[in-house]
Amino acid sequence: MLDPKDEIKQKLDVAEVLGDYIQLKPAGVGSLKALCPFHAERTPSFHVSRERQSWHCFGCDKGGDIFSFVMEIDGLTFPEALRHLALKAGVEIPAYKPRPEDHTKERLVAMHDVAAKFYASTLADAPFGEAVRAYVAKRNIPADLVAKFKLGAAPDSWDALVTCLKRNGFTDAEIVQGGLGLQRKSGSGIVDRFRNRMMIPLCDAAGNVVAFTARQLPGATELDGPKYMNSPETPIYKKGDMLYGLHLAKAGMREKKSIIVVEGNLDVIASHKAGVENIVASSGTALTTSQLRTLARYTKCIIFALDEDAAGFAAAKRVLDLALELQKDPNAPQFEIRCLIIPDGAGKDPDEIVAKDPDLWRKIAVHSEDVIEYVFTKRLRGFEDGSGAAKIEARKALVDELLPYVAKLQRPDSRHLYLLRMSDATHVDIDSLQQMLAARVSPKAVGSRQLAVGAAPTAAVVLPTVPDTKIDQAAAFLFGVALRYEGFTKEILSVIREEMLSSDLWKTLYNALGIVYHAAEQLPQPSAPQQTLFTRLRTWLDAQGKLRETSAVNALALRMDELLVGLSPTEVRQEADRNITIVSQERNRMLRSALERDIREAELSGDDEKLQQLMRAYRDIVSRR
Ligand code: UTP
Ligand code: MN
Repeated sequence: MLDPKDEIKQKLDVAEVLGDYIQLKPAGVGSLKALCPFHAERTPSFHVSRERQSWHCFGCDKGGDIFSFVMEIDGLTFPEALRHLALKAGVEIPAYKPRPEDHTKERLVAMHDVAAKFYASTLADAPFGEAVRAYVAKRNIPADLVAKFKLGAAPDSWDALVTCLKRNGFTDAEIVQGGLGLQRKSGSGIVDRFRNRMMIPLCDAAGNVVAFTARQLPGATELDGPKYMNSPETPIYKKGDMLYGLHLAKAGMREKKSIIVVEGNLDVIASHKAGVENIVASSGTALTTSQLRTLARYTKCIIFALDEDAAGFAAAKRVLDLALELQKDPNAPQFEIRCLIIPDGAGKDPDEIVAKDPDLWRKIAVHSEDVIEYVFTKRLRGFEDGSGAAKIEARKALVDELLPYVAKLQRPDSRHLYLLRMSDATHVDIDSLQQMLAARVSPKAVGSRQLAVGAAPTAAVVLPTVPDTKIDQAAAFLFGVALRYEGFTKEILSVIREEMLSSDLWKTLYNALGIVYHAAEQLPQPSAPQQTLFTRLRTWLDAQGKLRETSAVNALALRMDELLVGLSPTEVRQEADRNITIVSQERNRMLRSALERDIREAELSGDDEKLQQLMRAYRDIVSRR
């Protein structure tokens, strides 16, 4: 009789096994090639020979047979790979009976297998499984999914599981090490870790149960612990590596050529219910590079489900930063990051959406967009609406924030289009952005470029003759009116506030105008200056050595000549009023969005007192309008 390994090799073809994970293309008689799943590459150097039933990558020099491939890609030990492929080949291997001297990991895996079966049978028909049965029914999880995800019930008992495990030959020490039992606080012996909860087994890539997460039942109190209780880290379970549902997502990933990442484990189950199976959950922890690496071995397109709100934006940024971090490693796999947008009102998470309308989730799941598109749209909208656009520093910060993502884009046309959007928002010209981008994309170029810039003659100061924000434009008009018609000056000085102006130039002008105007007010009437306010302001600026401001005032005076020519006093009044309205509305809007931002922050940080105070201020502004 053949040993199981040889029998499996006879029954399975290398192309069939590897084809479950990667896309193989014919490359001559009996051989195939693919992009290597184990290192980053754009042209295939991963070769498969059906004749020799082996594989080899000429890029990273890995190679072997079907067993070593499955071990490498799924992160399995040899016995695990054997069991996995035996199942696929329909080859019987002697039932796995761990002996005490077996390796710790295999003992722990075997113990989790027993535990999962114990919980599953409790859920199926034990009298003390009733509460969980009712909860599973309430969440509308059908029997086929209960089986597929091996869901179970932990009875409301001190030591039901521990007793079962011991009967199966596991020691107290092993049960504690595996995280399924806890040392009694007083007295000796151990007790169950999980009690009276719905049990959700966490599996490795091959489908072995390696840990549990346990959901509390309705009616639980604070004394019963958090909503979800998880196994501790053990030799077979590392939280940061776990991707819930991975072993059930492989076929879906191949078919859809992508994987969707959500937060909650029950969202994965719900998604399967709607027939969307290319999905995993990060299980509530922030996603790690290790999880991203794992996913990138299976698919080149990783899709995150994001909310339409600020939390969604923060999540998108985190994921992008993580991906950027990963790309610093030249051997890291290449992949595309996209996102699904869960529209406001569709439901809090996929579980809710599926409960309301499985069709809606199916639709959302196939409409992903580039995450860069999402981040740009959100960020630029926030920038243009908020007070951000007002500050030069803020614009530079925006460039620094977004440029790394543009640098990551492969297509030159995409890069160009995103640079154009940045340029529109920040008013940094496209050439400068392109230079900065080039410096990023090929770091070697930086030195010489810096030299070139340093060697260039200092350019003449360019005056911003046309102010660039709406509020600045209105303010400029009002400045001009204030300079020319002194009857308006006082009013205009009180409407405009320094902090509303975007550039230092306009701020200086505003303050100077105030000083010059009030200085004249304080002089005794007889010696009141005969000069116009315009002349006095220019003289004052000259005396202060403020050249830039002086030429700006000159330019402004010229523009006002053009704008005001032929306007009657009433028309000037109307124009001034219109601009005053713009300025005060803009100011209100700025205040509001600054407050909105602070409120969001206070909500996130849980600072209730501050939140109340901000809400009051917000209501004040809104009602004042
Ligand atoms: P949520 O609170 O959004 O839960 O936490 P959920 O997935 O919607 O769960 P249901 O529908 O109320 O049952 C998201 C994820 O964060 C982790 C879990 O993995 C959960 O799925 N979590 C949450 C914990 O680990 N512990 C907790 O106490 C709460
Ligand atoms: Mn939920």
